[in-house]
Amino acid sequence: MAVLCLLCLLLVGCLSESQLVGAQLHDLTTLSAINEELGVPGWGANFSDYCSWPGISCGLNHSMVEKLDLSRHNLRGNLTLISELRALKRLDLSYNDFQGSIPSTFGNLSQLEFLDLSLNKFGGSLPPELGNLRNLRSLNLSNNLLVGEIPDEIQALEKLQDFQISSNRLNGTIPKWVGNLTNLRVFTAYENKLEGKIPDNLGSISELESLNLHSNQLEGPIPKSIFASGKLEFLVLTQNRLSGDIPEEMGNCSSLSSIRIGNNDLIGSIPHSIGNISGLTYFEADNNNLSGEIVPEFSKCSNLTL
Ligand SMILES: *[C@@H]1O[C@H](CO)[C@@H](O)[C@H](O)[C@H]1NC(C)=O
Ligand SMILES: *[C@@H]1O[C@H](CO)[C@@H](O)[C@H](O)[C@H]1NC(C)=O
Ligand SMILES: *[C@@H]1O[C@H](CO)[C@@H](O)[C@H](O)[C@H]1NC(C)=O
Ligand SMILES: *[C@@H]1O[C@H](CO)[C@@H](O)[C@H](O)[C@H]1NC(C)=O
Ligand SMILES: *[C@@H]1O[C@H](CO)[C@@H](O)[C@H](O)[C@H]1NC(C)=O
Ligand SMILES: *[C@@H]1O[C@H](CO)[C@@H](O)[C@H](O)[C@H]1NC(C)=O
Ligand SMILES: *[C@@H]1O[C@H](CO)[C@@H](O)[C@H](O)[C@H]1NC(C)=O
Ligand SMILES: *[C@@H]1O[C@H](CO)[C@@H](O)[C@H](O)[C@H]1NC(C)=O
Ligand SMILES: *[C@@H]1O[C@H](CO)[C@@H](O)[C@H](O)[C@H]1NC(C)=O
Ligand SMILES: *[C@@H]1O[C@H](CO)[C@@H](O)[C@H](O)[C@H]1NC(C)=O
Repeated sequence: MAVLCLLCLLLVGCLSESQLVGAQLHDLTTLSAINEELGVPGWGANFSDYCSWPGISCGLNHSMVEKLDLSRHNLRGNLTLISELRALKRLDLSYNDFQGSIPSTFGNLSQLEFLDLSLNKFGGSLPPELGNLRNLRSLNLSNNLLVGEIPDEIQALEKLQDFQISSNRLNGTIPKWVGNLTNLRVFTAYENKLEGKIPDNLGSISELESLNLHSNQLEGPIPKSIFASGKLEFLVLTQNRLSGDIPEEMGNCSSLSSIRIGNNDLIGSIPHSIGNISGLTYFEADNNNLSGEIVPEFSKCSNLTL
């Protein structure tokens, strides 16, 4: 630590002409402290040029860290200090061994556009402070040990395009405000303990391409409105407690290529309108209580696997 401080002092001396020294020194001391905590392979070798350390990209200024990719390093430790890298736009901590709660101070990273914490052992509930990340376009928290409900603060993330919270232990309902995230393209919440109905306004997300909610405890009908979404390609609702008929409107959704609704409590018959989905390549509806199984219209779907 003493050596580190001495080096910092020397650095201040060398660069004192530069107006950027404050910002640089702040990121350098932060990165040095992060390295002391996590022990990142290859960091610190060239002390004077942290922008060249593995996984780090600096901005045009060559002063502040804008991208930090520490994925796939088996790292563990306290991540709180990362919140000091105020210019961060992209933070990838996926595929490591991080444990404990997601630091609420991550909510201070106001420039952040991409946050990937997937494939770790983060526990506890989602910090509501993540709702402060107003520039966030991609949030991936999948494959962790997160519990509790999806906090309402997340609805403030209006720019969100990818929202992945699958393979956790989240409970409560899928909030109705998800249907108000109009830029959403991908929403995956499979393998959780979510209950209640699928919000009937998801169809108002005009950009939605992929909706995967399998292996939860969702009940009630498959909302007709989902099929009003003009870009939906992948619909996976397998292994829930969904009931009622398969909506005739499914056939209106010509962009669909894969439909998986098996292992539910659906009744009635497979609607004929499905024959109108010409790009359908996968349709799975087994383990329901459907009658009149095979529809002649399926013959129109050239590449279909049943
Ligand atoms: C360390 O970085 C500086 C500045 O980019 C560069 O001039 C120097 O050659 C580097 N030294 C090593 C050992 O890579
Ligand atoms: C460059 O750094 C200065 C001082 O930190 C900052 O005010 C400015 O916005 C930065 N410019 C760019 C293009 O990042
Ligand atoms: C992580 O470090 C911060 C200070 O950097 C400290 O306030 C916090 O209590 C630490 N968290 C844990 C879980 O040790
Ligand atoms: C960072 O976030 C924490 C928790 O959300 C907050 O208490 C703290 O004041 C913030 N710090 C700064 C410097 O903004
Ligand atoms: C997490 O999700 C984002 C956005 O969909 C994606 O780019 C990223 O590759 C995912 N991470 C992993 C480890 O799959
Ligand atoms: C969700 O799980 C937490 C414990 O992890 C529990 O306290 C809470 O009551 C549960 N909420 C619902 C709606 O089941
Ligand atoms: C969704 O947005 C509409 C229009 O802005 C608003 O009236 C409605 O209350 C919002 N719904 C939720 C659940 O936030
Ligand atoms: C959806 O399909 C139904 C019957 O399959 C039809 O009556 C309705 O007009 C269609 N709606 C739209 C918006 O295309
Ligand atoms: C299939 O589409 C055609 C033309 O859009 C429409 O006339 C027909 O009613 C549809 N068939 C079904 C079963 O929805
Ligand atoms: C399946 O549906 C029929 C009516 O369509 C009903 O009589 C029967 O009880 C249902 N079976 C199960 C296992 O739900």
